[in-house]
Amino acid sequence: MDKFIIEGGIKLKGAVALSGSKNAALPILAATLLTDSKCVIKNVPPLRDVYTMLRILRFLGVKVNMEDDVVTIEPKGYKNYKAPYKLVSTMRASVCVLGPILAKLKHAEVSMPGGCVIGPRPIDLHIKGLRSIGADIKIDHGYIVAEVKKELRGTRVYLGGNFGSSVLATANIMMAATLAKGKTRIESAACEPEIHDLANFLIKMGAKIKGHGTPIIEITGVSSLHGAEHTVIHDRIEAGTLMIAAAITGGDITIKHAKEEHVGAIIDKLELIGIKITKVKDGLRVQKTHSLKPIDATTLPYPGFPTDMQAQMTALMSITKGISIITEKIYPKRFMHVSELARMGAYINLEGPTAIVNGVTRLSGAPVMASDLRASAALILAGLVAKGKTEISRIYHLDRGYHNLEEKLEKLGAKIKREKED
Ligand code: EPZ
Repeated sequence: MDKFIIEGGIKLKGAVALSGSKNAALPILAATLLTDSKCVIKNVPPLRDVYTMLRILRFLGVKVNMEDDVVTIEPKGYKNYKAPYKLVSTMRASVCVLGPILAKLKHAEVSMPGGCVIGPRPIDLHIKGLRSIGADIKIDHGYIVAEVKKELRGTRVYLGGNFGSSVLATANIMMAATLAKGKTRIESAACEPEIHDLANFLIKMGAKIKGHGTPIIEITGVSSLHGAEHTVIHDRIEAGTLMIAAAITGGDITIKHAKEEHVGAIIDKLELIGIKITKVKDGLRVQKTHSLKPIDATTLPYPGFPTDMQAQMTALMSITKGISIITEKIYPKRFMHVSELARMGAYINLEGPTAIVNGVTRLSGAPVMASDLRASAALILAGLVAKGKTEISRIYHLDRGYHNLEEKLEKLGAKIKREKED
């Protein structure tokens, strides 16, 4: 296993380019299961979660090749409809192969994804949506067993849950509906840019989709889809993480490919804290020009403040003088980073889904342990500003969702090294 060693206290300066979006690439790779023809997907980030998805596709019988950030997929003739526990249990997002396999092969068996450290990961909305368009679904021996006796038929599907919309449930139902008979209207659909990008890929494959990116998506089924070429959008959560790296170190960095409309809520909160953000050619410039002010933030579905940025924002708040409040409405238990930040001197109280952060003047470097993808990012951000050396173990969590983050930070002046754990 690897660890990071970080020497804190350096203001990050310079320019850095974003990688492709993990959360756009994963459902887009799954969508290739809807066609018999070749697909070429570009700007795919070479990440552990992407490799897991490619292993699932290969297990199903699909021909897959990845060179640099280009994935060539030849799904013709895949017959296996079962995504196994040993692969699905390592990545919750694997559940998004359910809709495409069901629509293409009329039968799908996908292992229940299981939970993860950020909290329970239910799939009731996925099941409700697929049943609405005609699937028979049961849970059998830890597998979701879905089949279509006659054909999938379009209908009205309400996908709102107590936590708002569901990204991957929207993806699953939208993908399955592309081959259903008639029109499907998804209400309370997820509006995330990753859903918009998935829909754009499906439309290139010949799907008829309207309203993607809004809460109402309408899909008119077609008899088949053909292959397509697509370039995945850049990663807005990596953008937000790098924006906070500039803010927390008091630096000045330009993030290439960052799109204002993908990070609107993050810009809003950082400007409230006192960070200057300027739109530049093909990116955003982020500068700390004033002392930071405490704020409050609540995580919400897009376009609200993203839950995938909560841990990183908490790290920034921990060195912002005054009392900041951050409330988790999506994953109320997503606070594994708090105890590790406390080891570095952060002063954070948890009240249910709310973290009350009393900003301190300085964090101090310490040995800490990563627990999940975004918590790892938060600990790196804290290490960049902490006094002295921070050692972050179990960095494999970070490798799931950030490509070469240490190289990107080093290029901006950070003292960060990856080493083998003893
Ligand atoms: C996607 O997960 C992202 N993953 C997550 O990013 C992200 O945190 C999440 O959306 C919310 O934005 C990918 O896109 C691969 P949800 P997803 O279904 O689709 C509840 C990261 O760090 N819910 O939108 O699995 C659920 O409990 C990862 O990159 C139900 O109640 O999340 C949660 O409270 C972590 N029933 C809320 O909805 C369901 O059937 C949103 O979950 C499904 C979800």
